Amino acid sequence: MTLKKETSSMELGECTRNPGYQDVDGGGSAADTVTAAVPGEKQDSTAVKLDPDAAEEYTQLKPYAGMPKEVLLLYSSQARYRVSREILFWLTVACTLALVVLTATVIALSPRCLSWWQTSPVYQIYPRSFRDSDGDGVGDLKGIQEQLDHFQYLNIKSVWISPFYRSPMKDFGYDVEDFRDIDPLFGTMEDFEALLAEMHNKGLKLIMDFIPNHTSDRHRWFNLSRTGDPHYKDYYIWVDCNQTVPRPNNWVSVFGNSSWTYDEVRGQCYLHQFLKEQPDLNFRNPNVSKEMIVRLLDCTHGFISCFHITSHFFVFITLQESVTTEWDLYHDYTTSQLGLHDLLRDWRAEMDIYSREPGRYRFMVTESYDYHEVDKTMMYYGTPLVKESDFPFNFYLLDLPQNTSGLWVQHLVHLWMANMPRGQWANWVVGNHDRPRIASSAGQTYIRVINMLLLTLPGTPTTYYGEEIGMENINVTDSQIQDPAGKYNKSASRDPERSPMQWSGDMNAGFNNKTNITWLPVHPEYRSINVEVQKEDESSVLAQYRFLNMLRQSELPLQRGWFCYVHADASVFAFLRELDGLNQAFLMVLNFGIESVITDLSSIRELPDQLKVLMSTNQVSDGKVLQKSRILTEAGEGLVIQYSTHTRFNPNHPGQCYVSEKACYLGALDILYKC
Ligand code: NOJ
Repeated sequence: MTLKKETSSMELGECTRNPGYQDVDGGGSAADTVTAAVPGEKQDSTAVKLDPDAAEEYTQLKPYAGMPKEVLLLYSSQARYRVSREILFWLTVACTLALVVLTATVIALSPRCLSWWQTSPVYQIYPRSFRDSDGDGVGDLKGIQEQLDHFQYLNIKSVWISPFYRSPMKDFGYDVEDFRDIDPLFGTMEDFEALLAEMHNKGLKLIMDFIPNHTSDRHRWFNLSRTGDPHYKDYYIWVDCNQTVPRPNNWVSVFGNSSWTYDEVRGQCYLHQFLKEQPDLNFRNPNVSKEMIVRLLDCTHGFISCFHITSHFFVFITLQESVTTEWDLYHDYTTSQLGLHDLLRDWRAEMDIYSREPGRYRFMVTESYDYHEVDKTMMYYGTPLVKESDFPFNFYLLDLPQNTSGLWVQHLVHLWMANMPRGQWANWVVGNHDRPRIASSAGQTYIRVINMLLLTLPGTPTTYYGEEIGMENINVTDSQIQDPAGKYNKSASRDPERSPMQWSGDMNAGFNNKTNITWLPVHPEYRSINVEVQKEDESSVLAQYRFLNMLRQSELPLQRGWFCYVHADASVFAFLRELDGLNQAFLMVLNFGIESVITDLSSIRELPDQLKVLMSTNQVSDGKVLQKSRILTEAGEGLVIQYSTHTRFNPNHPGQCYVSEKACYLGALDILYKC
């Protein structure tokens, strides 16, 4: 093939033309006869004869410009191209291998990344009370959607909304009539979908309740069961009994009265551990567990997470002693039966099928009331080989107000830390929709230090709505009682901790601004205790909560470092958080007592002599440098002290330290690794 100069310059254009180019490597000329090496063939057999005219023409072109094969072979066989090609080839191979080895090493040496349910507190919304968008006096899904910015403000990523399934509301949603529908009081399925989409847009995860223990007596299954439908007749726990007393045995429901109710349609008694409108499901019937898996998957498939409540297993016994409350009974036959763990494992396995996509981990938390048998509670973590929940709720801190002493707080914390299986993740709850608000039971003086404890302990904190502003219980008069438990026994009413969220000093505390109706009264102090006011005040409970949560999420030692006890006495509980390899560590000195005290930590040689306060709940000590022998705290004051150290505390005091998964930090490369 021959190219005329003019043609080539026209076709190739200026950018490919190099009029000055004459050089041919190795002293030869492109016009010479050359041998081009073709891989796998001998040179001689692949010799290419070039037309001298054509080669001459090409001396005017760059070697790569529109080059025919023959010329390409001519250049590529030259030593400078061949050698550099080989070098590049082997370099690429070596780099690829090095990358593979490096990646494998990094994977092998990296500690697990923390998941969303570990890095953020869980914020519990009681939907009746969070925000009412339509003015009917009861909170709803649209209302929640209107307030999603609150979570971004607080840097909270996990939001648990208590049940909003279709329900006759005898137990305010914990009596589910249809697991596949939204109760009209809270909105529609479209409202739910819009809320979920908006939550995901804002990077929030939704946690929903899954209530396997019972259904509403309006559930389709119960209606079919009481009419004796062959498939459904054993979906609930039925026994022969009379219409009149005595009942089959002495079991008492959580809300009072017998656990057995006679059903006229079926002519038998059914078991209910809660209200008579909440018949217990019979998990001895394999069809029930199958159906519940389907319900669980409905939830798991579409949403991120599910929240699960203990199923109480039933074994029939006959006792006729007289008891008045369920607490008078041992629950050997009703709670935490071993078969329950088989069920949980199955559910966990099902949820894991949907957890495989990146960022879609299905989190499971269990609620167990084996409160006084910590070993039983820990069983909900599963075993090293068979996983159950990510954690069972830790309710021990609900007992904080029982005693104002640092030793007591340490005891409660220790109950969990000392009994939690190795490598598991801790969690802490200081309030929920079933327990008096901590700001009331402990007192306003202690709400800040309690929030400080919650947000600096290792593990996931749970915050019940309003705790971030120090909301208190309301007083409910007899005529205002809504809670079925309160109707049976006023002192057991859970209404006081379910009052409307205090958003602002406006009408109804900003819970709704359309009518004057609210399903429970608004707290009378709402003008001073509300989100809007506290946002403007740097020293508020809200501002401190926010600061601590930001700190927790930005500081590795607080997120995943060692947790070590350093001191506890009649007032103060002090602990530190540190991570191997990282110079920065945190010391918390929390005064739960009733007076100011000076704590002497001079015996802790790992601590520097001088300690600078990063945050004090009383603010007066912010930024102060304290001698470690004289750390002053007032009653209800908490200090976060950040300090620099080269001496770790944990290696010298293994008995005082806990960690979920050991990790070290390599400052030079800014990486975290298993150590
Ligand atoms: C547990 C819930 O926390 C509580 O509020 C409810 O009353 C019971 N389950 C019974 O459904």
